[in-house]
Amino acid sequence: MRTVILGSGRGSNAEAILQAQLAGRLGRAQVVQIISDQPDAGILALGPRFGVPAQFVDPAPFKTKLEGASEARYITALHACEPDLIVLAGFMRVLKPALIGAFAGKIINLHPSLLPDFPGLDAIGQAWRHGAKTTGCTVHRVTTEVDGGPILDQAIVPIEPGETLATLTAKVHAAEHELLPAVIARLSED
Ligand code: GAR
Repeated sequence: MRTVILGSGRGSNAEAILQAQLAGRLGRAQVVQIISDQPDAGILALGPRFGVPAQFVDPAPFKTKLEGASEARYITALHACEPDLIVLAGFMRVLKPALIGAFAGKIINLHPSLLPDFPGLDAIGQAWRHGAKTTGCTVHRVTTEVDGGPILDQAIVPIEPGETLATLTAKVHAAEHELLPAVIARLSED
């Protein structure tokens, strides 16, 4: 299962996926490309470390979405990878219908809350500020509804009394690092 990872940030989830692949825990999935919309993103540095091609694809002129020419650049770059699965691992842009339609049913997203609770930005902070007793993370299929596609799996993270945002963030990230590779492995065996 040819797998492409898209991310905008430090890439800890991409690293967890690549470590799982090295350890033989990624089923029949193989990461063939990393793509980022941020030229200096940590996720791109994983490429040389793990022997996977890593590429910046210019999202200009938009800051939070892909549309028009930038969307076309992403569609072209993704088609070149011949992907069976596209994993959004901290890719902080809204995908529009043309890209989603070009890879229908092949795109999954990781979100740091128990969807449908706390969609959108700063999901861990939202749960913490609301005084929720539990939060977690979700892997779901990507549809045109932002953070709204069918849920593939979730992991629950309890929020303890006195929990700080920093400790909660670390717990959610640790849960993500287990959940996302496990979902990819499972999809690859379907
Ligand atoms: C992860 O916590 C992921 O759930 C979140 O970005 C982080 C990326 O971390 N994604 C979203 O908030 C998407 N709405 P990473 O770059 O270390 O993998």
